[in-house]
Amino acid sequence: MTIRDILTVDADMAALKQKSTPVAAVDDALRALMDDMLETMYDAPGIGLAAIQVGVPVRVIVMDIAKGNETPAEPRYFVNPEILSASDEMFVYEEGCLSVPEIFDEVERPARVRLRYLDYHGKKREEDAEGLFAVCIQHEIDHLNGVLFIDHLSRLKRNRAVAKVKKAAKAEMDA
Ligand code: NI
Repeated sequence: MTIRDILTVDADMAALKQKSTPVAAVDDALRALMDDMLETMYDAPGIGLAAIQVGVPVRVIVMDIAKGNETPAEPRYFVNPEILSASDEMFVYEEGCLSVPEIFDEVERPARVRLRYLDYHGKKREEDAEGLFAVCIQHEIDHLNGVLFIDHLSRLKRNRAVAKVKKAAKAEMDA
């Protein structure tokens, strides 16, 4: 497994805005990508990662919302995920993103969604998501469509967030 570079909005906005394409087959090459993505996500550390965040525009997500020192790791893999239905009830959560480092803001999304996806072995699955799982899967599916969580904020907040990430990147480069 290899830790890959994560694209960030200061330098890679155009790549992050791409729409990812569906996966044709869940094979060993795709599993190798998912293994790399998981290791990259744990290293960052984060709780979810879409393939486009490591520069691969395919519809693949890895996630581990149970990650922590006290809980055992529970890695999850979602290939070609789709939201089949969403609740009218909404839920607000303070989100962050490895591609928008150090920025956190509240986003409102449906509280529950029903998902369909292929798992690590290419098996078709359907599942209901709620709470942090629902937040995370909606955030990651947004990535597959070229949408970042800051796109859900006002234009002023979004521009301010990107400027902040650019400034931090430049300060790091000058240091
Ligand atoms: Ni993200």
